[in-house]
Amino acid sequence: MEILYTAAALQAHAENCRQAGQRIALVPTMGALHEGHLQLVRAAAAVSDVVIVSIFVNPTQFNNAEDFQLYPRLPKADTVLLEPAGCTAVFLPSVEEMYPQPTVMHFDFGALERVMEGAHRPGHFNGVATVVSKLFHLSRPHQAYFGQKDWQQVTIVRQLVADLSFDVELVSFPTVREADGLAMSSRNRRLSGEARTVAPRLYEALTLAATLVLAQQESPAAVRQAAVAHIEGEPAFQLEYFEVADAHTLQPLNAWEAGQQVVICLAAFLGGIRLIDNVVLSVP
Ligand code: PAJ
Repeated sequence: MEILYTAAALQAHAENCRQAGQRIALVPTMGALHEGHLQLVRAAAAVSDVVIVSIFVNPTQFNNAEDFQLYPRLPKADTVLLEPAGCTAVFLPSVEEMYPQPTVMHFDFGALERVMEGAHRPGHFNGVATVVSKLFHLSRPHQAYFGQKDWQQVTIVRQLVADLSFDVELVSFPTVREADGLAMSSRNRRLSGEARTVAPRLYEALTLAATLVLAQQESPAAVRQAAVAHIEGEPAFQLEYFEVADAHTLQPLNAWEAGQQVVICLAAFLGGIRLIDNVVLSVP
């Protein structure tokens, strides 16, 4: 497994592989790898000759300095996990390497970023789109893997690829969960033991909402209310948002339409740690 530290080294490696006719997959991450990341890597390795995993805690997508500082950084442990999962090259750049000068241009994804994560984390998707564009340009992958855990992120990256004609196939991968339903996340490491025991309530609320959607008895507002009540039944949570939205436009729903794909998304603080999760389903 190659370990690449510079943009030039990544570019040269990817170009050599391309020239040799190899198929390249990119899995962008911020490290502190867990099974959710590793499943993306395994899925990529099953169909690609070259699997490049980037590990970069991207400062431009953090709107909270403390969250950026406290974000777990475990490059040694991460590298050990990657090779058996089928990764062939790890890209581990410094901030100076990715941002030799401050960026000036800004991305605006319109209505897609005026909701949920975009609404609550100003500048977040500008940072994501900037770093993902840089990674796409440097590695020119045939495929790039993203998790549905960050549904709004995948939706926005899909828009980025379409708007800027990136020649890459996006593969979006279902959310990987702990046995009790909690979505795997690098931030879960920061939960106290007590917080960890109540954390699965978030997925319970999403499951409850999904069951109500499928039963077709309640309006979107009533579904939302029932799920919010379930979360707020545990005072340790501070709910930031809970949205029942169209899975493609991400706009909140007032009524159901048969066959429509719906995403139910939430963000909540638990003991000061911000967790997000979602489920996607079709209206019967
Ligand atoms: P990070 O949070 O490290 O996630 C890297 C990739 O793993 C993302 O595509 C994310 O959706 C996916 N992922 C995380 N947890 C998952 C889970 N439980 N199940 C399935 N997939 C999961 O997302 C980012 O980093 C960054 O924003 C990035 C795209 C790397 C840009 O900086």
